[in-house]
Amino acid sequence: MNEAPDLEYDDDMTAVLEAVWGEGFMSPGGTDEVDGILSGLELRDKSVLDIGCGLGGVDIHIASNYPVSHVTGIDIEADLIEKCKTLATMAGVSEKITFQQVAPGPLPFDAGSFDVVISKDAIIHIPDKHTLATDIHQVLKPGGIFTASDWLAGHEGELSPEMKAYVEAEGLDFGLATAETYKDALLSAGFENVQIQDRNAWYRTVARQEREALAGPLHDSLSSAVGHEFLDREIKVWDLMITVLDQGELRPTHLRAAKPS
Ligand SMILES: C[S@@+](CC[C@H](N)C(=O)[O-])C[C@H]1O[C@@H](n2cnc3c(N)ncnc32)[C@H](O)[C@@H]1O
Repeated sequence: MNEAPDLEYDDDMTAVLEAVWGEGFMSPGGTDEVDGILSGLELRDKSVLDIGCGLGGVDIHIASNYPVSHVTGIDIEADLIEKCKTLATMAGVSEKITFQQVAPGPLPFDAGSFDVVISKDAIIHIPDKHTLATDIHQVLKPGGIFTASDWLAGHEGELSPEMKAYVEAEGLDFGLATAETYKDALLSAGFENVQIQDRNAWYRTVARQEREALAGPLHDSLSSAVGHEFLDREIKVWDLMITVLDQGELRPTHLRAAKPS
C-alpha cells in the first residue's frame, strides 16, 4: 500500500500563514505582491499556469481581477488543492480556475499550453532549477512569459550556522539556489530578457512587521487556534528568518523571462 506523503503545510501551519499573509496566501505580500509580479503584462484572454498554488490566493486574485481566459493552479499537496477549490467557489471564480494535484517532476501539460507561467515562492521547494526552467519553457507558447517570486540563496557553498538553524526550524524541503543559478537555468532553457529583482530590503522591513503582529495583535486568537507552543515555535522561526535576511543569505526575489516568439 502506498503511504500518503508527509504534509509539509498542515492545518496549523496554514492557519498561521493565512493570519499573517491573508486568506489564501502562504507567502508574503498578498495581492500587492501578485500585482507586482504581473506588473506591465498584457493578460487579456491569456491562459495562466501557477506552479505551487498553495491555498489558491494567487489564482483567485488573478481570476477575479485580470481579464485572463483561464488559470490553472498546481500543487503537490492534495489537502491544499481541496482548500483552493473551496476558496475559489466562495469567491465565485471556480469556473475560471482549474486546481490540480500533481506529482513532483515534469509538468504534466502539452508543449505550448500556456501564455504565462507564474509562481509565487514555491520554486524554492524544487531543487533542480535547470530541469524546471526547461519544463516551463516547453509548456509556454512562443512569446510566452515566465514571471515569479521566489526565495533565493545569497551565496554559493556552505550555509552559515544561522542559515542552517533557520532552514532546520522551518522544517520544509528547501532547494535554495542563487540568482546566478536561476539566470543560468533560464538562459540555458532558451529564455531571453531575463530580469532578476532583489527584494531582500523590502522583506527585511515587512518580516519585522509580521513578527510584531504574531507576538502582538494576532497572538491570542492564533494561540487558541493552533496552541501557544506551535505559535511560539513559529515566532522563533520568524526571528531566525530575520537574522538570515539581515545577513543577506535569504533573498526574496522577483524573476521574469520571455520565451522567444
Ligand atoms: C510557500 S508555499 C506558496 C504557495 C502559494 N504560491 C502562495 O504564494 O500562497 C509553496 C507551495 O509550493 C508547493 N510545492 C512544493 N513542491 C512543489 C512541486 N514540485 N510542484 C508544485 N508545487 C509544489 C507546496 O506544496 C506549497 O503549497
